[in-house]
Amino acid sequence: MAGPKHFLSLADIPASELRSILDEAHRRKAARTGQPKGRPDVDAPFKGETLAMIFEKNSTRTRFSFDMAMRQLGGTSITATSNDMQIGRGETIEDTAKVLSRFVDGIMLRANSHETLVNLAHNASIPVINGLTDYNHPCQIMADLQTLEEQGGQLSDMTLTWVGDGNNVAISFVNAAAKFGYRLRISSPEGYKINGQTVQAAINSGAQIDLIDDPLIACQNTDVVIADCFVSMGDTNPKERLRDLADWQVNDRLMQAAHNSAKFLHCLPAHRDEEVTASVIDGPQSVVFDEAENRLHAQKAIIAWCFEA
Ligand code: CP
Ligand code: NVA
Repeated sequence: MAGPKHFLSLADIPASELRSILDEAHRRKAARTGQPKGRPDVDAPFKGETLAMIFEKNSTRTRFSFDMAMRQLGGTSITATSNDMQIGRGETIEDTAKVLSRFVDGIMLRANSHETLVNLAHNASIPVINGLTDYNHPCQIMADLQTLEEQGGQLSDMTLTWVGDGNNVAISFVNAAAKFGYRLRISSPEGYKINGQTVQAAINSGAQIDLIDDPLIACQNTDVVIADCFVSMGDTNPKERLRDLADWQVNDRLMQAAHNSAKFLHCLPAHRDEEVTASVIDGPQSVVFDEAENRLHAQKAIIAWCFEA
């Protein structure tokens, strides 16, 4: 018998299934235009079902969007931080997986370590969804791609440029590149380069990825410029990081190098005048609040993909 469908990494999921998740996200978003936010979708497909959400790290968007997603799908959610739970006192993730599998229908975990997420999934008899780890952030990229499609054009015609730390969010853009066919450029300073093995694996599966040292060259004629914080949750030495990454700030100079119609993405939370200037993130090319909203719509489609197994 096939096991539960987990959503842990975009690298693991066939392109056709990711495409249908994105189509479902667009469809569900359009179908509830103008409805009160707390009103369930007409089909309410997961009435009576419950998602557990466990947070080892802070969250605003992931927490509220998953909770609202379950309500709109007709179900409910239970949220706890790891400190509220016995895992905060040493209970194993394996035992936690087996116990929660008896109570709820799915688990979303935001974990410090990707290994914790994988262990949870291996020991759960219900779907597990990755709400961010130190390694990747797949739900975020589904929302980002939904946002770009809403702006018009095909992903396979686009060049996306990541500027800054080669971090967890960047990894998921790498994982999705071959699946959706966009070209990806990544510009990071020494010491902050993206995981080379992940990039090579993506290239081997057909991704077009260029690593370009100079952020100005990387942004030349690009369709999308993407930034994220210079100090991710769990990172140490914040002052050193801010200093080392300062020249990779997305500012008007970089945006002017991009296409006139280029969009700016940032998963948020943002730190104005660190990784991005206020002129860019609050300017006309920024679509960051559509991007944040789409966490809700994309995750409804992700939950549906997992739960409808
Ligand atoms: N972008 C994102 O994952 O936001 P939160 O950390 O607020 O969940
Ligand atoms: N790279 C950031 C993303 C936050 C949503 C972090 O891991 O803190």
